[in-house]
Amino acid sequence: MSENGKGKGLSWLLFLVTIVVVFFIGMMISSVVERKSESVARLQLTNEIADGETRNEVWGQDFPQEYETYMKLSNGEFKIDHGGSAMIDYLEEFPELVVLWAGYGFSKDYNQGRGHTNAIIDIRNTLRTGGVKSSPMPATCWSCKSPDVPRLMEKYGVKEFYSGKWSDENKGAEVINPIGCGDCHDSKTMNLTITRPALVEAFERQGKNIEDFTHQEMRSLVCAQCHVEYYFKKPGNYLTFPWDKGFAVEDMEAYYDEADFKDWTHKLSRAPMLKTQHPDYEVFKTGIHARRGVACADCHMPYKVEGGVKFSDHHIQSPLNNIANSCQVCHKESEEQLRSDVVNTQDKILEIRRIAEKAVAAAHMQAKIAWDNGATEEQMKPVLKLIRHAQWRWDYVAASNSMGFHSPVEAMRVLGTSIQKAEQAKSELSLVFVKLGVPLPVAMPDISTKALAQAYIGLDMEALNADKSEFLKTTAVEWDKKAKERQGTLINYQK
Ligand code: HEC
Ligand code: HEC
Ligand code: HEC
Ligand code: HEC
Repeated sequence: MSENGKGKGLSWLLFLVTIVVVFFIGMMISSVVERKSESVARLQLTNEIADGETRNEVWGQDFPQEYETYMKLSNGEFKIDHGGSAMIDYLEEFPELVVLWAGYGFSKDYNQGRGHTNAIIDIRNTLRTGGVKSSPMPATCWSCKSPDVPRLMEKYGVKEFYSGKWSDENKGAEVINPIGCGDCHDSKTMNLTITRPALVEAFERQGKNIEDFTHQEMRSLVCAQCHVEYYFKKPGNYLTFPWDKGFAVEDMEAYYDEADFKDWTHKLSRAPMLKTQHPDYEVFKTGIHARRGVACADCHMPYKVEGGVKFSDHHIQSPLNNIANSCQVCHKESEEQLRSDVVNTQDKILEIRRIAEKAVAAAHMQAKIAWDNGATEEQMKPVLKLIRHAQWRWDYVAASNSMGFHSPVEAMRVLGTSIQKAEQAKSELSLVFVKLGVPLPVAMPDISTKALAQAYIGLDMEALNADKSEFLKTTAVEWDKKAKERQGTLINYQK
């Protein structure tokens, strides 16, 4: 064949290859379009969902995949080293916590968080919300438990929603459906939406408009409605996020100091304390995944394909129970490798966290001994400030979920400063003891179990438990009856 003939053959070959390639690209596009129209079709509601509909099962009629995966939250009992959804009594496991929270509800009862659909039953059951005789918590406590919350805010007004007690019947009998579809979705468009005013207001004070965030940011912000640090601003217990100076642990600490805010006065040390809530969003923001643009939903609600339908897995849980979909879409390592990466990091963070909590607990107990021996306000003031800051920083890591995995380096840094402040408080206390003529070392009580620690801080657990079971037998049953009359069905939250 001549040179020319060879060239012609090549052109034909190229032509044929191009046709084949174009054909396949066409096929791919049409399949993508089909997928798209498939998911769009799914978003056309067969049943209209009313404004303010709070029952998951009603939304579920239109979106069975999302509903079914969401409801798995109720029965999952996944146990792993530092996470999962099994009922774990943290006070039993770490009795120092009882001392750290002396004079505050958490010293009575504190368990591992469970799935969203358990939110109502868990808040009713905890000793922190009290019983019939004692009802220590404000209504604001309901805020992150149910899609009935935005419904009632709409009905009564936001301020009015926060007013009153947790146990008031106009909340108890109305906040009945556990966290669900209506907390994150607009019922008309199914778009992600922010239903909690505290988040919108916090961004407004930073000069940001919630409407301006990207879709990927919204995949974290729907979680940041609840998985954040917050406090009840006086008067009126108005739910507020302390972000005006920024999201860092020091920024929020400075905010609280400036506002002269305390959650309670410590029963032993008399320090003006802060209770860190669960700053998952704030901690996460400091980590590598957030910096690379990964959102909460990427790991906790990964895509899933079933019967040719692709949807977001609404079984929101420990990603370690679903590594293939949660991690391996981005990481090529084996499941075993990824699991041990996480658990090894968590083991190390817990090791340092334990040092911090023992040091802060010792500082509280020593401060009590100093008071008992006649220490003055003036002598104690710098000590109490150190204790306040040491515990706030310890709790910033301890109260946030994932045992530091969301941002391991930041967790270690903050724990380091907590230990430093607790040790400084203890050395200042030694000087106070010398001045008071108290012989060193001072004798410390035995707080090696939950029961011993609770007896030491003066809690009458028998009375608290009796009052709680009275509440569950009377008031709670009344609430359920009223709720059933109002909404017809009663969501099965009693798991
Ligand atoms: C890169 C993946 C990833 C992202 C993104 C992520 N998490 Fe996590 N999260 C984890 C892992 C891993 C754990 C630890 C699970 C364990 O120990 O069982 C965890 C634990 C948790 C837990 C406790 C779950 C349990 O079973 O104890 C909560 C709550 C949580 N994350 C909320 C969030 C929120 C809110 C965001 C966004 C602000 C977020 N996560 C972003 C991976 C992620
Ligand atoms: C905690 C917040 C949250 C709750 C509660 C929630 N969703 Fe979602 N939902 C999301 C997120 C995040 C996405 C992903 C949206 C995206 O990326 O556009 C999503 C996506 C969806 C989609 C779009 C298709 C898909 O699967 O990606 C539908 C439909 C949906 N959810 C239905 C429901 C229903 C029904 C319920 C109640 C049973 C529910 N959701 C509860 C956060 C939530
Ligand atoms: C309306 C408030 C609210 C919103 C919105 C919310 N959460 Fe939660 N979340 C909670 C509460 C309350 C609990 C603890 C429930 C319990 O223990 O009864 C919880 C528990 C969890 C757990 C622990 C579940 C387990 O099995 O260990 C994970 C993980 C979690 N949330 C992740 C998320 C993610 C991711 C988002 C956003 C897509 C989100 N949450 C949005 C309030 C909320
Ligand atoms: C959407 C993609 C994405 C998902 C999902 C994801 N990661 Fe990552 N991960 C990243 C990126 C990007 C980095 C940063 C690595 C880099 O840029 O070199 C990273 C870093 C890490 C690191 C190193 C952290 C460090 O501090 O150096 C670990 C460990 C890790 N991921 C574990 C996990 C685990 C476990 C999961 C599932 C629970 C997960 N990742 C889910 C994208 C992802």
